[in-house]
Amino acid sequence: MMEVAVMERTDQKPAANAAAVELSRVTVRFTTDRGSVTALENIDLTVPNGGFLTLLGPSGCGKSTLLRVVSDLIQPTSGSVKVLGGDAAAARARREIGFVFQDAALLPWRTAIENVSLPLEVGGRNARPGRRTPKELLELVGLAGWENALPHELSGGMRQRVSIARALVNDPKLLLMDEPFGALDEITRDRLNEELLSVWQETDTTILFVTHSIYEAAFLGQQVLLLAARPGRVRETVEVPLPSPRHIEQRESVQFIELAAHLRRVLETC
Ligand SMILES: Nc1ncnc2c1ncn2[C@@H]1O[C@H](COP(=O)(O)OP(=O)(O)OP(=O)(O)O)[C@@H](O)[C@H]1O
Ligand SMILES: [Mg+2]
Repeated sequence: MMEVAVMERTDQKPAANAAAVELSRVTVRFTTDRGSVTALENIDLTVPNGGFLTLLGPSGCGKSTLLRVVSDLIQPTSGSVKVLGGDAAAARARREIGFVFQDAALLPWRTAIENVSLPLEVGGRNARPGRRTPKELLELVGLAGWENALPHELSGGMRQRVSIARALVNDPKLLLMDEPFGALDEITRDRLNEELLSVWQETDTTILFVTHSIYEAAFLGQQVLLLAARPGRVRETVEVPLPSPRHIEQRESVQFIELAAHLRRVLETC
């Protein structure tokens, strides 16, 4: 019985100052019939516990690949990956990683609320419920009243919001988000940006967030990682000087406009 207790995920907190994510000289090479692609080359990256990193870069520079390496969906060709104080596979097995993919990936035969609850059902002993219920999470992403709708009855943006609620249901320690708001209208996107920041602020969740929007990257991140393509490599890491908590109106400040202009100039060279 003692051994079982030791294996519970709540007992396995990483050391207080440990980084949530540490990549050291990570290279990922894919070999296909058409030859070999270096998706990532010698990536060094440290994201502190509780940090919020946004990733910006041209299509094909390896952003999704980087998230997949961190979540143990693919193995790097070389280099080392540390996630929540150990290897990525262990963090995944403890269900400490939430992933919001570029497309919503819902189960079509389950209603919205059944999709959000899914991780609690399949997680077995590690399926610790989070602070918010599936119903509260649907409310948080603006889908109150849609609990019993099936995915085909929802718009693409609504499906994406269900998948965000699902990723939050376990209170993940690490949340990986791959262009989660790309399909949404700007007003909804702004609102979800603020909601995401307040969820992040209330919890000790570390977030890695991929976007094609300079404004979203600058508004959400404590740091912005700019990647260049072919091969995917780090061009620059930019610290975001904006104070927290952040509000959409801050995007009109001189500080924000200068930051966005800098990111654009760097992106043009990626
Ligand atoms: N499973 C795979 N097999 C072969 N090549 C792959 C695989 N996954 C990614 N690649 C290649 O690796 C490179 C990086 O792809 P990745 O999906 O990480 O880019 P991305 O930055 O997420 O692009 P986008 O902004 O378009 O989503 C691309 O050249 C892609 O063709
Ligand atoms: Mg991608």
